Amino acid sequence: MQIGKALKELFCTGVVGRSEMFITSKLWCSDQAPEDVSRALSKSLEDLQLDYIDLYLIHWPFRTKPGSSGWDPEVMAPLCLQETWAAMEGLYASGQARAIGVSNFSTKKLQDLVTYAKVPPAVNQVECHIVWQQPALHYFCKSTGIHLSAYAPLGSPGSWIKGEILKEPVLVEIAEKLNKSPAQVALRWGIQSGHSVLPKSVNESRSKENLSLFDWQIPPDLFSKFTDIHQQRLLRGDFAVHETNSPYKSLEELWDDEI
Ligand code: A2P
Repeated sequence: MQIGKALKELFCTGVVGRSEMFITSKLWCSDQAPEDVSRALSKSLEDLQLDYIDLYLIHWPFRTKPGSSGWDPEVMAPLCLQETWAAMEGLYASGQARAIGVSNFSTKKLQDLVTYAKVPPAVNQVECHIVWQQPALHYFCKSTGIHLSAYAPLGSPGSWIKGEILKEPVLVEIAEKLNKSPAQVALRWGIQSGHSVLPKSVNESRSKENLSLFDWQIPPDLFSKFTDIHQQRLLRGDFAVHETNSPYKSLEELWDDEI
């Protein structure tokens, strides 16, 4: 609601035009029933005071009961991804969503999706940073024309994830050599790896710092050092795993055991 008010003010005062912004929203897990998908987007559009969204993503490859807000095992519901995707395609056909995609999908789950998708996913938004680089998922997305977009590109140090990737010694050393901040080098690594990065900041100077990425680069001899970093998923997704109530009995099933 607050974002809708802010957007309206920006558009009305001519600070920025709607076509200059790329606005993404996600279908919440409790709205995956095909009959709920259109209503969920309409509600988001109403809150945002917009006529269309640039990109609409299925938030997770698991589903919760309609009306529920949490991720407890008691609220898990059976998956119906094929039907959910068909409803997403309806939003794309209507023009309410200019592009559709998914979030937190493994290579295998994307492979399944493309077998029945009439409109292929434009984007897979996943955790991706120097400590969770996911070369196999990268390769699959690139070879199928699905854009990979990285959330938590700084490791989300201020959230409950509390990633400490900005202290990673390889990163700190490279940042010192390039006279950039560790955050800038972590973000530039993402761009040079071929994906987009979605850094969050409520601080104006850090936001500016995070945008100053396009007039320099990490040279190849330093870029290759990132492969030495020990890999670890930070957002493990334990909440989606349950012996009886979830389609995923283990983390290996949720992520299909890939790196
Ligand atoms: P803040 O909002 O105070 O700037 P992510 O994008 O990986 O989810 O991480 C977001 C977190 O990273 C926020 O806590 C944010 O804090 C912090 N952050 C954003 N930009 C920088 C930066 N350039 N240097 C250090 N921390 C940053």
